[in-house]
Amino acid sequence: MPNMGRYEEVVNSFSWEISEKELGYRPGDIINIGEYCSDRNLRLGRKDRPALIWEGHSGEVKKYTFYEMSVLTNTIAGFLKNLGLQPGDRICLFMDRIPELYFGFLGILKMGGIAQPLFSAFGSESLITRLEDAQTAAIITQRKHLPKVRNIVESLPYLKHIIVVDDDGTKSLREKEIAFHMDKAPRLEKFDIYPSRAETPSVLHYTSGTTGKPKGAQHVHYSLISQYITARYVLDLRENDIYWCTADPGWVTGTSYGIIGPWANGNTQCVLDAGFKAETWYRFIEKYKITVWYSAPTAIRSLMKEGEEAVRRRNLSSLRHLCSVGEPLNAEAVHWSKNVFGLPFHDTFWQTETGSIVISNYPEMPVKAGSMGKPFPGVTATVVDLKTYQPVNKPGVVGLIALKPGWPSMFRTYWRNEATYQSKFKNGWYICGDRASIDEDGYYWFVGRDDDVINTGGHLVGPFEIESALLEHPAVAESAVVGKPDPVNMEVVKAFIALKPGNSPSQELELDIMNFIRKKLSPLAMPQEIEFVDSLPKTRSGKIMRRVLRAKEWGEEIGDTSTLEND
Ligand code: PRX
Repeated sequence: MPNMGRYEEVVNSFSWEISEKELGYRPGDIINIGEYCSDRNLRLGRKDRPALIWEGHSGEVKKYTFYEMSVLTNTIAGFLKNLGLQPGDRICLFMDRIPELYFGFLGILKMGGIAQPLFSAFGSESLITRLEDAQTAAIITQRKHLPKVRNIVESLPYLKHIIVVDDDGTKSLREKEIAFHMDKAPRLEKFDIYPSRAETPSVLHYTSGTTGKPKGAQHVHYSLISQYITARYVLDLRENDIYWCTADPGWVTGTSYGIIGPWANGNTQCVLDAGFKAETWYRFIEKYKITVWYSAPTAIRSLMKEGEEAVRRRNLSSLRHLCSVGEPLNAEAVHWSKNVFGLPFHDTFWQTETGSIVISNYPEMPVKAGSMGKPFPGVTATVVDLKTYQPVNKPGVVGLIALKPGWPSMFRTYWRNEATYQSKFKNGWYICGDRASIDEDGYYWFVGRDDDVINTGGHLVGPFEIESALLEHPAVAESAVVGKPDPVNMEVVKAFIALKPGNSPSQELELDIMNFIRKKLSPLAMPQEIEFVDSLPKTRSGKIMRRVLRAKEWGEEIGDTSTLEND
């Protein structure tokens, strides 16, 4: 019997107090996510249960019990505190998916720091934008990523410490750099955990928008109340589950449901620090007898491409519940998974800003393939009119997904950008920036984003950030970046580029520009296609009309451009 029970009944009886009570939290109490995810599990008798089973890309395996996890997170917290780092300091995690990343996250929270995870494939430019904005005090990284940090350290006056977790003495460390070995450091059995309260900042996740620089969605320790109960009700995590979340903690799925939700529930988590390969993924599920699996449509479509044979070669009978997030999960993928795994993927919808799942398909509710499901109990959602922001209240009418503020894990602001935070609210609703409709049974159907942000393989990339980086290439005069349809990644980045006089289009130049962006920003931001043009469509005031270029890529009507032209 699933944890949640029947959706209709739970919707009527639910209150967040249920979660608070299960966690033994009363309003006003100390609440520290680091403590709840580690030490609390010892008090509940889970001391010897594996907390983390980790496999690296070359096959090495590391296992840690909840007891070891508690001690190691203390050890990291103590080390950070001894360096002089203070509660409230932003501490960046810039690592591959190694155990130090997971325990570092909890260690930061235990000493009262604000964890700022960044995707390790980010180049120096992506890094500097986010570290500058957060005025980050320390960065925890690996030797292999150190050159990218060294490139920018001079421009970061707030950065006091660069902690290298795998220094082996071969690279002489420079000023500010310090080695730390989690497994060799003197172990701290006890640590005075920072007495954070509900509204104490916990995590800062950067996310891209249409304009301006990426924004830091700031979360608080109270988010745990949402993350714990959604992991229990939506992911249906039960006491002895072996859980695998395929997301990287550089993105919110990898922290809310790759660290906080499952460990607050005391579950064993498996982490595979290797790129996507169907054969490797199936082997991983079989080897560790994964029961609950949380992944993304791009990965599922890639598995579909590999065919059923690869599934049949493995015994995947341990799987009990499957969920997906990040992009629209097409009906075909749901049918396929039902057919080959005997289980449908359950689509879940949420955002960096929402901190936890807000619309979803639940274990006890019939899945309508292609739909995102219904609002989580305790979350008031609707679809509002595109112009008036009033609820449309009519089945099938497309509008904007809107949420009534108040669920525990909602972001509290954008870091040092309260104005943009405020601009997300209309008529008392938080506007997600996505278009959808609701059918007569209350199921939500995703239509598309309401802005120019590109969703590639479940990762948002901001066109503005790429366009700004392109301008730094010596041959580029101006550019416009849009999403182009892609059968696996849903969208990939396409750049329209007008060259400076004296340059002419060539394949060589195209590759050079692509690599330029890959290194500066990340492989995700790298244009998969470049179209050289003489000029770009613009409004009368000179603003580039991305919408026109995007519509062309998607074979859509360009629509009303009059407002843009008069802009
Ligand atoms: O456009 C929606 C899409 O991803 C956006 C949020 O991205 P991010 O903040 O990076 O968080 C991703 C993981 C929580 C949304 O505004 N998105 C997320 N889930 C879905 C989705 N689009 C369609 N269907 C989904 N299930």
